[in-house]
Amino acid sequence: QQFSDGDDLGAGDARSRRTTKLAVVGAGSVGATMAYAALMRGAARSVALYDINAAKVEAEALDIGHGIQFMPMAEITGSDDIEVCRDADVVVVTAGAKQKPGQTRLDLAQATISLVRSMMPQLVEVAPDAVYVMVTNPVDIVTYAALKVSGLPANQLFGSGTVLDSSRLRYLLARHTGVAVQNIHAYIAGEHGDSEIPLWSSASIGSVPLVEWRGMPGPGGSVVGRLGPEDRERIAEEVVNSAYRIIAGKGATNYAVALAGSRIIEAVLNDENRVLPVSSLLEGYRGISDVCLSVPSVVGRTGVGARLEIALSDSELDGLRRSADALRDVARQFGL
Ligand code: LAC
Repeated sequence: QQFSDGDDLGAGDARSRRTTKLAVVGAGSVGATMAYAALMRGAARSVALYDINAAKVEAEALDIGHGIQFMPMAEITGSDDIEVCRDADVVVVTAGAKQKPGQTRLDLAQATISLVRSMMPQLVEVAPDAVYVMVTNPVDIVTYAALKVSGLPANQLFGSGTVLDSSRLRYLLARHTGVAVQNIHAYIAGEHGDSEIPLWSSASIGSVPLVEWRGMPGPGGSVVGRLGPEDRERIAEEVVNSAYRIIAGKGATNYAVALAGSRIIEAVLNDENRVLPVSSLLEGYRGISDVCLSVPSVVGRTGVGARLEIALSDSELDGLRRSADALRDVARQFGL
């Protein structure tokens, strides 16, 4: 039986038939790749790409739109008019200064805080009920500034934080141990930046605590993939230096951060209650308050919920507190 356009396919919940809308602010390499990744993963039915550069945003939307036939059913629009973000369910903010080779993310704070101050009121005007995911760097400071400027509740606006860093850690651990990345359970917490810390004490490989991992049988009776303290140190360093290395080679990072962003978008739009190390305002988390940084948290339709109080070693807790102090100092420098 062919349904014509006018057929009522059943009462159903009007909202369940309303398409979910994702707005991506910023059509640079991160924003455009984020829109592409979200569409390829079927994260949202409608994607709006917004940027002040009309030619760029229209070209990116057109180029992605030409591939819609090969994606799960969806639509994409691009505009330099912020109206295109109206009534979005999720708004991802990627617009901001690009990290130059050798520059730290915190070096971008001056430029991006003023951008946040001008942009957030306009976004909240057109999408007051959206869940906001900040990606712009320095993401922890930008998240804190955006919360202050927007006045939104702390569940409704958070940052991508160390979701990307944790996926880098898992990638490196999978390569080192030979175990599938899906069976590596490990988080990076704290700043999405130089003071971030790997949470080794709660990490596991399969169901083996990572700190007890003794490798696997290799050729000729050898043991491969041991994870001694020096291996962990090297891998942690490689995670912290990943962005610098990629920026030095190709000018920016975009693929993994876009995929990390799409994972967060899906957790919100599908109301997954997924545990992700997103950056959010902490109030009394292990004695840490008034700062945005990443700890494993539950992400669902209303944004960020419980910040899980996972077991931390003394050195991990010290590292988290040092990360918080570093971020709070920068926030204070910019009057936040
Ligand atoms: C990176 C950028 C997104 O870590 O901060 O690749």
